[in-house]
Amino acid sequence: LLLSSRFLVEGFSGEEEEEEKDIKITDFPHGFVFGVSTSAYQIEGAYLEGGKSLNNWDVFSRIQGNIKHGDNGYISVDDYHRYLEDTEIVHSLGVKAYRLSISWSRVLPEGRFGQVNPAGVMFYSNVIDKLLLKGIEPFLTIHHHDLPQELEDRYGAWLSPLMQEDFVHFAEICFKNFGDRVKYWMTINEPNLFANLAYMDGKYPPGRCSLPFGNCSVGNSDIEPLTVMHNMLLAHAKAAKLYRDHFQAIRLPKQGGSIGIVVSATMFEPLRDDPIDQEAANRASLDPLLFGDYPPEMRHYLGSNLPCFSPEETKYIEGSIDFIAVNHYTTLYAKDCLHSNCTAGADHAIKGYAYITGERDGVFIGEPTGMPECYVVPRGMENIVDYLKKRYHNMPMFVTENGYASLELQDAQMKNLLHDSKRIEFHKAYLAFLARAIRKGADVRGYFVWTLMDDFEWISGYRMRLGMYYVHPQTLNRIPKLSAQWYEGFLSSNGLNN
Ligand code: NOJ
Repeated sequence: LLLSSRFLVEGFSGEEEEEEKDIKITDFPHGFVFGVSTSAYQIEGAYLEGGKSLNNWDVFSRIQGNIKHGDNGYISVDDYHRYLEDTEIVHSLGVKAYRLSISWSRVLPEGRFGQVNPAGVMFYSNVIDKLLLKGIEPFLTIHHHDLPQELEDRYGAWLSPLMQEDFVHFAEICFKNFGDRVKYWMTINEPNLFANLAYMDGKYPPGRCSLPFGNCSVGNSDIEPLTVMHNMLLAHAKAAKLYRDHFQAIRLPKQGGSIGIVVSATMFEPLRDDPIDQEAANRASLDPLLFGDYPPEMRHYLGSNLPCFSPEETKYIEGSIDFIAVNHYTTLYAKDCLHSNCTAGADHAIKGYAYITGERDGVFIGEPTGMPECYVVPRGMENIVDYLKKRYHNMPMFVTENGYASLELQDAQMKNLLHDSKRIEFHKAYLAFLARAIRKGADVRGYFVWTLMDDFEWISGYRMRLGMYYVHPQTLNRIPKLSAQWYEGFLSSNGLNN
């Protein structure tokens, strides 16, 4: 339930998809922010430079078989040394916002147990200054999947409540050092997905599984993903409280920014025309953030496996966000596994007691992309935004990630990699449905393309490409794809660039 973010299909009307029209920037409200998103570990490289310590991904990728083709993020696309050039290309797209994350092990190589690394702070300070100089608003994710290995080794990182204190310490360093210039904060990226992948499926570091669902033999109980999620939610809530109490409005000069959390927001539609599948799709995950506790159905089904919040923690969690940061890529079908037999795909049974699939009667829900379980379903953008609007009282939202993955062979011709017309069609179609949701009243304030350039796509390595720029494997030169040209054209199409 909580862990897999199974969203309600409420509001899904079954209407025919709107005929695709050519989307224009003028279809969005004045002041709507267009941007592009990245994350530290996926682009920076320089894994042992400038005082950075080893992090969980550095260590995880050393183990053969963990990452496709033995890839790693040691050099990645070298943004650490090329950030000036990267800011230039962000600027050349004409976007007004750039979402980046802070490498925890660059800023606090030993977490709370060591000193702040001045070179790390300086690096991000320079990036932020450079962005602002170019008129680009930084949107900062504090934690995007990477953490100092020290914290893993000392106490098992997110499995321990101690991690809450470490995260709050890290967040405080970020607020102190960057909060004078950063006005949009996101605490944690996709805790719902991370807890599943790292502690149930064993696919992300530390590679633990909840038997018998994952593919590995480390890890021992299906409580672990729940514990991790619980610690992440509390870490988020405590950091948000710290920001509000000491930075947002109080400290002089007050920082006055806003703070949110990033959710992996896949849309779900019922597999069968049956209320029990509708319910399977209904099991939502965000309640604790705004309502202070897990949804009652979760408590009912998970019983004492589900941790409890103390009254004080409930208070922290209630209303701990100013906006919802929504990462949306695809829509999948959900089939009930509480009342129905789910032997096939039972590995999904724990995830919201639903079997999740992209296929019905042999027909895919949308055109497959290069990423497993990721299909092109543009209507999902409207449905997910609509769902969140209803459930969370039309709280402000930013679509902080939306992108198209292609899986290319290493020897693929560069010209084919650059002619990414499917990516362009993807963005146009999703944007058209986003504009429709906004016209119907959803308070969405921005849209970020994932991602600027082809990068280290976690366990899929470098051959899974989502970038608008191609990065030459030898020279690391950034070369615009057709999609970069399209985005630039789209953004300047009203001549005013918003
Ligand atoms: C969401 C994650 O936040 C990001 O790191 C990843 O690259 C994209 N999804 C694409 O898989």
